[in-house]
Amino acid sequence: MAQRPKDSPADPLGIGQGGDPSENPLSGRVAVHPERVSAEAHVAQEIADLVRSRPGAVLGVATGGTMKGVYRELAVRARDVDLSRIRAFSLDEFLGLSPENPHSFRAFLESHFVGPLGLGAEQLVTPDASWAEADPAAAARAYEDHIAEAGGIDLQLLGIGRNGHVAFNEPGSLAASRTRVIRLDEVTRADAVGDFGSLDAVPTRAMTVGIATILDAKQIRLLAFGEGKAAAVGRVLRGPVGGDVPATLLNAHEGLQLHLDRGAAGLP
Ligand code: GLP
Repeated sequence: MAQRPKDSPADPLGIGQGGDPSENPLSGRVAVHPERVSAEAHVAQEIADLVRSRPGAVLGVATGGTMKGVYRELAVRARDVDLSRIRAFSLDEFLGLSPENPHSFRAFLESHFVGPLGLGAEQLVTPDASWAEADPAAAARAYEDHIAEAGGIDLQLLGIGRNGHVAFNEPGSLAASRTRVIRLDEVTRADAVGDFGSLDAVPTRAMTVGIATILDAKQIRLLAFGEGKAAAVGRVLRGPVGGDVPATLLNAHEGLQLHLDRGAAGLP
C-alpha cells in the first residue's frame, strides 16, 4: 500500500468513519493542504525525487490550470536534478487544432512544462491530433504502443473536471477504456470557453488516453483545487464508484494519492 503523504493527517476527511477504514480503498491516501502551493510543492518534490532515483523516469503529464503550479515548482527544483533523460506523455489533445495552435494541449505543455524545465521537445510525446482525425484507431493504438515501449508511466499527474472527467474520459467512460477519440461533454466545453473565447470555438472532439491506460501507471497523483471540484472529488472520496464520475474508476489503484485544498475537499 502506498505511503500516506507526509503532511497529511491520518484521515483528514473522516472517510474511514463509521466503518473499518481498511474497507475504504482511499483511506490514508488523501492530503488536504492549507494552501494549494503546498500541494504543488509536495508533488513537484516527489517528481524530483523520482527522477533523482530513476533518471529515465517516464511521467504522465496533464494540462489545465491545476498543473501550472506543479510545473512552476518543478522548474525551481530542475536546477538540482538532471531532467535530460526523462520522458513525458500527455493525456489528451483536442481534435481540429494544429499543434502550433496556442489552445492545443501541446502548446500548453510547451510553454508550462517543456520550456521552463529546459527539456528537449522530443522528451514530450503528445497525441497526434491530425492522425487521430484521419485514422483514430491507428493513432490510438500507436499512442498506447509508444507508452508501452517507453516502459510504461512511472508517475501520472491528473487534474479532474467539474464533471469528474480525468484526461478527457467523459462521463460514461468505462474502466476498461483505452486511448480513443471521444466527443467532449458539454460541461467540459463550457468550462473551456474562458480559454477559447466562445463556445463555438471550443472543439467538439479530442483524443484521450483511457481509464485503463491511466490505471497502468505505477503511481497516480490527482490534484484538485477549489470548491468547483468538491462535488466530483466527494464522489471519488466517498463513492459510489461509477462511470458517471470517471475519476471514481481510479479508486482501487494502490498508487493513487489525492492532493486537495480545503475547497476541493468540501471543507470550509
Ligand atoms: C481538461 C483536461 C484535464 C484537466 C481538466 C481540468 O479538461 N483534459 O486533464 O484535468 O481540464 O482543468 P483545470 O485544471 O484547469 O481545472
